[in-house]
Amino acid sequence: MIKIRSEIMNDKLVEAQKILKKYDQEHLLYFYDELSDEKKEILLNQILQTNFDLISTLYKNSLQTTKLDIETVSPLSHLEKNKLSKEELDYYINIGETLIKSGSFAVVTMAGGQGTRLGYKGPKGTYELHFKSYNVKKSLFQIMCEDIKRANTKYHITIPWYIMTSEDNDTSTKEYFKAHDFFSYPKDKIKFFTQGKLPLIDLNGKLILQEPYLIKSASNGNGNVFKSMKRHKIIEDLEKKQVKWISFGGIDNVLLKNVDPLFLGLSIDKNYQIASKSIFKENPLSKTAVYCRKFGKPSILDYDDIDIKLSVSKFKNGMYKYREANILSHLMNIDAVKKVSDLSLTYHRAFKKNAFVNEEGMKQVPDKPNTFKFENFIFDSFAFFNDMLLLRVNENEEFAPIKDFTGIYNPDTAKEKYIKYWNLNGLST
Ligand code: UTP
Repeated sequence: MIKIRSEIMNDKLVEAQKILKKYDQEHLLYFYDELSDEKKEILLNQILQTNFDLISTLYKNSLQTTKLDIETVSPLSHLEKNKLSKEELDYYINIGETLIKSGSFAVVTMAGGQGTRLGYKGPKGTYELHFKSYNVKKSLFQIMCEDIKRANTKYHITIPWYIMTSEDNDTSTKEYFKAHDFFSYPKDKIKFFTQGKLPLIDLNGKLILQEPYLIKSASNGNGNVFKSMKRHKIIEDLEKKQVKWISFGGIDNVLLKNVDPLFLGLSIDKNYQIASKSIFKENPLSKTAVYCRKFGKPSILDYDDIDIKLSVSKFKNGMYKYREANILSHLMNIDAVKKVSDLSLTYHRAFKKNAFVNEEGMKQVPDKPNTFKFENFIFDSFAFFNDMLLLRVNENEEFAPIKDFTGIYNPDTAKEKYIKYWNLNGLST
């Protein structure tokens, strides 16, 4: 017998109520009776598709604070770009350039973040820096595009460019590129793909509503890039194009070098599968994440694990053991990407500011962080390898991120570094 729509809806409602009771999330149906049929269906479908088991496990696990045993931490050795001789530079650059010219190199830009700290409406990549004295405005996407285009011109190729978006910013990102005619990048060489998302949780372990009929979810971290590349057949596409090396970077560092033949040449010549760039962490007391080994495997000492004893410890030769800060600039060969796309990375808990619908059905915008978000970090994939290349570069040449308006990584400091760098190198902004 064919069920009519109202019966199907009723079945869904009963099922949803059962699930919500089990996970103590019944408040999600608080406004149900006031919704239109269409919105009722959207909400019920969302509830039925949500993995409450995963969310509740992640939340419970995140409440248990496990202190890192510093005995399990050891240094990860690094190379310093400044210490390479002219001959060494030429040698490695040549290897990298040969690979780039052969068309075996691609760029992935991770632009699926929420950008909560910046609080800018719209995808972070569309945020514009205004270079007033040059009367020029450039968005972060344009800056990234120009960086890759410079390499295209130099090596007479078009590097395939993959941009990871979130379900929240995918449409607006694509529309933005269309409206700007893809900044003259060959359209068929740019591919957008969306990353995964997870519901957010408030301080009481409750999911929140973004609208009376919509559960608030957010992208689940840049470490989701590998699974998303697999899901959207980006890995297949890379293999079809015979790409051997892929650079991974964020959207918010205006000095990111997406195409760096030295970095590539070193990785290839020294037979690594994965590589990262670092900058020297000047202040040992700061909470900046640094590279290390955990249980012998390449890793990162994250914010909560930073220990002053580790931060000030030195080798006999006077070199610091743990002062290589992460700048989200990585390289991986295709085999490494394939390998990690099949693995499940750890989830980390972040505390972020997110608007929500309150008990009166009104949208409330908090003035401080109010929700937990669960994220995979790209660097957690490193622990699946025995070793990696770590290359220390110069902060003023390669690191000018935009995170918020009040901290050290604000639009003005980024702009200043960008202008200084490009002027120094004789290029106009
Ligand atoms: P951040 O960790 O700084 O996050 O991302 P964010 O989203 O830009 O800003 P906040 O923390 O909410 O204020 C570093 C890079 O990783 C990307 C971001 O777009 C940025 O380029 N990212 C982050 C993703 O692609 N997906 C995510 O889920 C998170």
